[in-house]
Amino acid sequence: MTGSETIVVTGASGQLGRLVVADLRTIVPEAHVVGIVRNPDSATDLAGRGVELRVARYEDADLVAAALAGADKVLLISSSEASRRTRQHRQVVDAAKAAGVKLLAYTSILHADTNPMALAVEHRETEALIRSSGLPFVFLRNGWYTENHTAGLAVALRRGAVLGAARQGRISAAARADFAEAAAAVLASRANQAGRVYELVGDSAYTLAEFAAEIARQSGRPVDYRDLTEADYKAQLQASGLPEEFAALYAESDVKMAANALYDESRHLSGLIRRPTTTMAQSVGAALARIPKMHGGSS
Ligand SMILES: NC(=O)c1ccc[n+]([C@@H]2O[C@H](COP(=O)([O-])OP(=O)(O)OC[C@H]3O[C@@H](n4cnc5c(N)ncnc54)[C@H](OP(=O)(O)O)[C@@H]3O)[C@@H](O)[C@H]2O)c1
Repeated sequence: MTGSETIVVTGASGQLGRLVVADLRTIVPEAHVVGIVRNPDSATDLAGRGVELRVARYEDADLVAAALAGADKVLLISSSEASRRTRQHRQVVDAAKAAGVKLLAYTSILHADTNPMALAVEHRETEALIRSSGLPFVFLRNGWYTENHTAGLAVALRRGAVLGAARQGRISAAARADFAEAAAAVLASRANQAGRVYELVGDSAYTLAEFAAEIARQSGRPVDYRDLTEADYKAQLQASGLPEEFAALYAESDVKMAANALYDESRHLSGLIRRPTTTMAQSVGAALARIPKMHGGSS
């Protein structure tokens, strides 16, 4: 497309990627938005809406290089394959460098440079290799998705309790859609974004006890917060079906949240999206609306 930018989004079939692609197509309709997927069958809806898809697994350097051909800007959405991510991300960074992209945006983690969570290690490594690549970069240091909590809402209602190991730690979570909108705003921006580091969090924070109380308030059912040891919480996560590696990571994350590892008072996120971030209460309401039978809704 002559005269317009080509913006390539990795992980386009994922929950965040889909939202970013949709937002970009709204905010910068003149841009050529390309989604990288590893399995085109999981993104037929995107193709149906006219999004150009390029197929590449992060592990395949040739395919990643082909997928980034002609890219002006790239959003590298961090891989969901914990413990393999740094190697995977390196392929995208190398390909972006070879393609001469003008901006590489990366979805990192809040306070990646000092964040004590085990989940932060690969983000720190990725940020370091992006910096050393010499590419113009922007780091989108995403905090916690509120959906990480609301995903367990039906179970919490059945059990009458939210489980965790975060004690009274305050969590500045925001909706995944807020983070997506911010990423799209940065990619669409006419301002020079190179070298910027955004600490992206919700405007207000909550404890898991406050989260449980909000579920109880909106559902009219008794729900409290039960704080567990790291080992017990990990066991509960495994019992609910999470593989051990992820259960360990999530339990460890909660323990670090007890020390406010995901707390921040910056307003970078609401500044980028030019509106207040989605509140925890709104996210609880939206999640409850998806399980109407359990809280007496009508549809
Ligand atoms: N901030 C938070 O609270 C939080 C929570 C969870 C995750 N995250 C991070 O944020 C990222 C985006 O979140 P999300 O909710 O969109 O996750 P998601 O729905 O699991 O999406 C992950 C995306 O990465 C793609 N992917 C994974 N491994 C790949 C590989 N080897 N080659 C190519 N593509 C690969 C997936 O492709 P398929 O569709 O083919 O699987 C999918 O498109 C996650 O990957 C994770 O790093 C952050």
